[in-house]
This record gives sequence, C-alpha cells and structure tokens, in this order.
Amino acid sequence: MKNVISLKNVSFRYDSRQDWALRDINLTVYEGEWLTIVGGNGSGKSTLVRLINGLLQPALGEVAVCGMLTCNPLHLRNIRQHVGMAFQNAENQIVGLTVWEDTAFGLHHIGVSPEQADARCRSVLQMLGLYERKDHPPYLLSGGEKQKLALAGVLAMEPKVIIVDESASMLDSKSAQQIHEIMSELHRNQVTLIQVTHEVEEIFTADRLVVMQKGMIRFDGTPQAAARNSSVFTDSGLLPPFSVRMRDVATLRGLNLPAMSEFEFADL
Ligand SMILES: Nc1ncnc2c1ncn2[C@@H]1O[C@H](COP(=O)(O)OP(=O)(O)O)[C@@H](O)[C@H]1O
Ligand SMILES: [Mg+2]
Repeated sequence: MKNVISLKNVSFRYDSRQDWALRDINLTVYEGEWLTIVGGNGSGKSTLVRLINGLLQPALGEVAVCGMLTCNPLHLRNIRQHVGMAFQNAENQIVGLTVWEDTAFGLHHIGVSPEQADARCRSVLQMLGLYERKDHPPYLLSGGEKQKLALAGVLAMEPKVIIVDESASMLDSKSAQQIHEIMSELHRNQVTLIQVTHEVEEIFTADRLVVMQKGMIRFDGTPQAAARNSSVFTDSGLLPPFSVRMRDVATLRGLNLPAMSEFEFADL
C-alpha cells in the first residue's frame, strides 16, 4: 500500500506552554485508509491533525504528505490541496458572503473551470442538504449547518485526504449520521479519511483506530483489536463502546461474548 502521510519521531509544543502537546509520534497513513482518532480532552488529537496539513510545524521530527515535507514552504500550497480539513472552528473557515460562494471559494484558486465549479458545488450542497439555502448568508446558519458548510468547501476541492476534526462538534445525531454516511461513501471512493471523534460508537466503521493519551499514541490497530481490551479506552479517559462494556459485564457473570459494534449486537 502507498503511504500518503508519515510522521517520524514528531514532538510538538506550543510556544506558551512548557509541556509537550505531542511526544515522539510515529504514524503512517495509507492511501484509501479510514483512520479514526479518539482520546481524552487535551490528548493532542487536534494538534496532530494540524501538523498533518502544515498549520503547525513539528519542533522535532518530520511530517510528510505524499512525500512532501510540511517544513518546506514551497510544498505547503500543494500539501493543502492534497489534504482538506474541516470542522475545528467551523466559524473561522467561512469566507463567502453566501453558502454557494463559500463552497466555491477555494475552487477559483485551483484552476477549476466555472462550469465544473458549479457542478461540484451543486453536488456537495445537495449531498449535505444545504442546496436550498445556497443564497443565504452563512451567518444565518445554525452551528451544525456551519460545520456542514465547512465540510462542503473541503469536499468541493476533492482532496486526496480529508480530515474531519469533530472536537467542537455541534452536530445533532441526524446530521452526525449523515456526515458518517458521506464519509463511508468517500471511503468507497478510495479517499483517505482521518476522523477525530469523541463518539466511540463510531469507531467500528474505520479500518484503523489510534487512541491518543497525553500527547502519545496509546493504541494503533484495528477497532476490533482495541475492543478486546477496555483499558485501551479507560486509560485514556474514555468510556469504552457500549459493546465492550456489555462484554465486560457478561464476562464478570461468566458469559463469553465477542466484542462487536452496537449494530452487530442489534442484528444478533
Ligand atoms: N493554541 C494553543 N496554545 C497553547 N496550548 C494549546 C493550544 N492548543 C492546544 N493546546 C494544548 O495542547 C495540548 C493538546 O491539545 P489538543 O491538541 O487541542 O487536544 P485535543 O484535540 O485532543 O483535545 C493540551 O494540553 C492543550 O491545552
Ligand atoms: Mg481537539
């Protein structure tokens, strides 16, 4: 498999802070992979994804996207075209005067023809259920709709890698489900996905799970492997997925249940 993102011995700390936000991170993300990142508040998830699209630079180590180092200023523009990031501070991502203009904004800068830009905008706004509101000014949208608009702008650019940082998520459960379905569709189309979420029930659709704890990677493997050991979650301050808790209770009572997603349980 081709690797799209690689972090080698990466450490980072914010200027204003003494302690390291990330310590000696080694991570490779492969083309077409769906990687989900979970971890307690302040464990370094957002810092990690900001390093990936070059918003932050590592203090030690190196970050490469499609073989291009983020520390090379000549590569940054190209890297940001490859890696689209949505959600964290959706408000700050909004630049257009209308929903439509905002979605189309980035396209004017990458040489997409006006016809193609129109087609892409229409398609992503329809997919996200924002098409009817295309002429509205973004400030009239709800918090969740603004998050969707931020995602619309990213999807329209058709990047190779999409990062969704849900840490400030204002999505209701219906919208969250909708976003999850869109991610599944992107995954079927070989887009590389990096999803930061605090919804542990969502992890089972990912190919791979990374659990962050105090600026370090506590676990890196399949969600199913993580589910075998509830301390992977509890040590990081997370409530394990429902199925994992259920199995632990069953085990205490002498029953032998496999770990599976809530949905697989429902199908039994
Ligand atoms: N802009 C910032 N300035 C200073 N410290 C920060 C900043 N952003 C995050 N941090 C600190 O870095 C650590 C990791 O934060 P963050 O990556 O936002 O974690 P997470 O996304 O997992 O909640 C935390 O200790 C946090 O307080
Ligand atoms: Mg965060």
